[in-house]
Amino acid sequence: MMNSPKDWPEPIVRVQSLSESGISSIPDRYIKPPTERPSFHVFGSSQDTAAVAEADNSNANIPVIDLSGLESEDSQLRAATLSRVSESCREWGFFQVVNHGVSPQLMDRALEMWRGFFHLPAQAKQLYANSPKTYEGYGSRLGVEKGAILDWSDYYFLHYLPLSLKDYSKWPHLPTNCREVIDEYGKEVLKLCGRLLKVLSVNLGLREEFLQNAFGGEDIGACMRVNFYPKCPQPELTLGLSSHSDPGGMTLLLPDHQVTGLQVRKANSWITVKPAPHAFIVNIGDQIQVLSNAIYKSVEHRVVVNSGRERLSMAFFYNPKSDIPIEPAKELLTPERPSLYTPMTFDEYRLFIRLRGPQGKSQVESLKSPRRLS
Ligand code: OGA
Ligand code: NI
Repeated sequence: MMNSPKDWPEPIVRVQSLSESGISSIPDRYIKPPTERPSFHVFGSSQDTAAVAEADNSNANIPVIDLSGLESEDSQLRAATLSRVSESCREWGFFQVVNHGVSPQLMDRALEMWRGFFHLPAQAKQLYANSPKTYEGYGSRLGVEKGAILDWSDYYFLHYLPLSLKDYSKWPHLPTNCREVIDEYGKEVLKLCGRLLKVLSVNLGLREEFLQNAFGGEDIGACMRVNFYPKCPQPELTLGLSSHSDPGGMTLLLPDHQVTGLQVRKANSWITVKPAPHAFIVNIGDQIQVLSNAIYKSVEHRVVVNSGRERLSMAFFYNPKSDIPIEPAKELLTPERPSLYTPMTFDEYRLFIRLRGPQGKSQVESLKSPRRLS
């Protein structure tokens, strides 16, 4: 296995400080090749007019699902809610949930608290500067490739579970009470993740506890990345976060209420997510793609930035226990649809990803048997 790198290949530049320095053009390191820039929406041939038309359809949005239907007395409403989740998992890999049981006040407090953190003086944040060994703390790049083109964002990464990795000394101590807010937020979001895994299991025709057990039962992993996208003087040349699929099990994203930026790949176009008030954005990660033998797919997404307003989002990653092999559920295999993936632990998978940074879907594709790790 590859060794984990000890340090960054180059001095770290905080994107926020670049943004606040008042530059009118961005450094070359942040300029993406033309095909990756935000305005390039078509993946296939540029003669594909249907794809162009779809990309221009700015009314499109990922499905919004009212989860109160799951608890309803009305069995038809329960069934309809399950089937909307099922359809969203198959067709989008992404959906938003409302009436999900997490307190809206807690969601607002958590967002405000993290905004406060990123607006602390540079030295206060620097106390938590991260290294590529664990990535915990305040960071400004993913991947350790020297000379890589970077994304226009800073972030804070921390472990919530397992308890053996939860380390308050790696969590910020300011703003006041922030550790309590993170703890409470984690507790509530964890409950929602557990409910959603049951829904996904049932929808796949598996026992309710199947995915939770496959993730390691009580011993799952959970971590959080808070993304901070500063204003950018040339947003058309760069991305806040390059196209990627999430490596873990399932992600619950709490996006900025005011500022859009997340785009989800749908066939040949990028759909900009319009967040519903106090909704979570749920998406399937690579590990559920593997467990479901690609019945559910982890879909590519990216973040565009803008010159007018900064944006903040909180991503909560619900992951399998890191040392158990993840492979397609036997119950889902048929002679017509044999296993697509060879087993791999999440530890091995994550190390692989962290060395390279966001790379579209190339990592999960490379798991297809026979495995290609090139
Ligand atoms: C992520 C992610 C999207 C966003 O953190 O993996 O996709 O809107 N974030 O910040
Ligand atoms: Ni993501």
